[in-house]
Amino acid sequence: MNASPSPLPTAIITGGSAGLGRVIAETFLQRGYRVMIVGRNETRLQRASQTINHPELHTAQCDLLNTEQTQSLADRVQRELGRLDVLVNCVGASDRSLVSELTPDRLHELIDQNVVTMLLCSQSMAGLLEQSSGTIVNIGSLAGKVGARYLGGYNAAKHALTGLTQQMRLEMLPKNIHVAIVHPGPIRRDDAGARYDDRVSTSMPAQAAQPGGGTSVKGLDPQRVADAVLRCVERKKRDIILPAHMRWMIALGNAFPSLGDWLLLKFTSKRGE
Ligand SMILES: NC(=O)c1ccc[n+]([C@@H]2O[C@H](COP(=O)([O-])OP(=O)(O)OC[C@H]3O[C@@H](n4cnc5c(N)ncnc54)[C@H](OP(=O)(O)O)[C@@H]3O)[C@@H](O)[C@H]2O)c1
Repeated sequence: MNASPSPLPTAIITGGSAGLGRVIAETFLQRGYRVMIVGRNETRLQRASQTINHPELHTAQCDLLNTEQTQSLADRVQRELGRLDVLVNCVGASDRSLVSELTPDRLHELIDQNVVTMLLCSQSMAGLLEQSSGTIVNIGSLAGKVGARYLGGYNAAKHALTGLTQQMRLEMLPKNIHVAIVHPGPIRRDDAGARYDDRVSTSMPAQAAQPGGGTSVKGLDPQRVADAVLRCVERKKRDIILPAHMRWMIALGNAFPSLGDWLLLKFTSKRGE
């Protein structure tokens, strides 16, 4: 039997058991939402649940690359929560590699993590979101707007996510589902700078292991990113770039590619390289 719809607005945050996703989950709870966080690892989900410690927090174990599990998740949301207002697709992973060393298998893996998880989850939740005239917010990256050195297939995967998001927005408009994307630069976290050590080959400079492959863009407070996600929902923003001044650099680079390359090399070079 289906639950009668919750009086509280309801949000699903994929990848809500760690990193940025967890901060987004806490932000929506503070805003009065009932929140379900989704991840593959049950222990990690329970640890996040204990840390957040909120009566309106639910957890769901699901591999979003598995079509059946993703459809069961939508059925569970319908059954247990009765409504869905917001889906934040936060699952994703970066990379380190030179293009000359990037393998097709690794590129497929990155597209699976950053794009296919979003596609399957959005498809399975579309019916629920149509009922509420809800919102989908995808978490992209600056790497989905411009190139950067040493990020392997991450740029390609996040550019694909950017393109698919705009296509979804156009196609879902008649169903009154708003589709948005937030493109953050590197985000501050305790293990930033050590997460990709084992992916940096000897052909790459040491700076490649640093956030954004060694870009000089300063690490963002994750709360700023979570607030931007909320603006996409509450003020129907479509496309937010953080830090905001990067929007102008990206626009300049699109209009004048040689200037764009010069600026990118400048922002991603250590002195003397
Ligand atoms: N960190 C940054 O500096 C930064 C900068 C710009 C953009 N971003 C973007 O922000 C998002 C979050 O990044 P993060 O570094 O905060 O992530 P993270 O700490 O690595 O966490 C990833 C989350 O996704 C879950 N997950 C991974 N694969 C999954 C799958 N197949 N099905 C269900 N859940 C899955 C993980 O849980 P399980 O492993 O238990 O499944 C975990 O909760 C990503 O899209 C990333 O590209 C990050």
